[in-house]
Amino acid sequence: MLSNLWIKAAAQHRLMYECTWLGRPIIQFPTDVLAIQELIWTIKPDWIVETGVAHGGSLVLSASILELLGRGHVVGIDIEIRPQNRSAIESHPMAKRIRLIEGSSIDPATIAKAKGLIGDAKTVMVVLDSNHTADHVRRELELYAPLVSSGSYIVVHDGAQAWVSDIPRGKPEWKDDHPLIAIESFVAGNPDFTIDPRWTRLGITSSPNGFLKRRVS
Ligand SMILES: C[S@@+](CC[C@H](N)C(=O)[O-])C[C@H]1O[C@@H](n2cnc3c(N)ncnc32)[C@H](O)[C@@H]1O
Repeated sequence: MLSNLWIKAAAQHRLMYECTWLGRPIIQFPTDVLAIQELIWTIKPDWIVETGVAHGGSLVLSASILELLGRGHVVGIDIEIRPQNRSAIESHPMAKRIRLIEGSSIDPATIAKAKGLIGDAKTVMVVLDSNHTADHVRRELELYAPLVSSGSYIVVHDGAQAWVSDIPRGKPEWKDDHPLIAIESFVAGNPDFTIDPRWTRLGITSSPNGFLKRRVS
């Protein structure tokens, strides 16, 4: 209950816009940043595919952990990469591990470009953080889950949108339109994926039920 209250207060005060990672603004709660670095260190992916770039903070986070692992690349997909963000990302010390694709995450041309980059990489992880409507996230899950390798993860951010529709800065429509709806229906129809509670064990998260593990085959 306290975690839920903190999430509401934090969303109202826009605390997810407060932090940077290696100089780039990252739109995440600190506990989710901790979870993502643990996950990348555990999975050691060859490629991370991320939808939703914004200022590039989450891309730089992924790239920096890959850099410490000495392997891997991250591709960021966004419908609009503003010139100042592109230039900051492309001139960042972690840029060598980052690729950018501009386009809607659910456009077949975007998916084709992402597939072209990851090729036949053995270990692939996906993070979804673009448009958070249920329909969009459901479509992203259908399109990107097949890229996820055995034992790896697809992370769906911002399911907590469901809990903040009633704060002054929230939107009433979020009550019935949020990523948790997409997660629930996807998992119900895809027994290959299960919700792994390990990565949200700190309670405070913007991604409840958002860490989906692909069964080891
Ligand atoms: C919450 S921000 C991403 C935050 C970033 N992952 C981070 O942690 O710093 C959402 C981003 O999704 C992008 N976006 C919205 N609709 C999209 C779509 N259909 N395809 C790709 N990106 C989209 C927006 O332009 C915005 O930059």
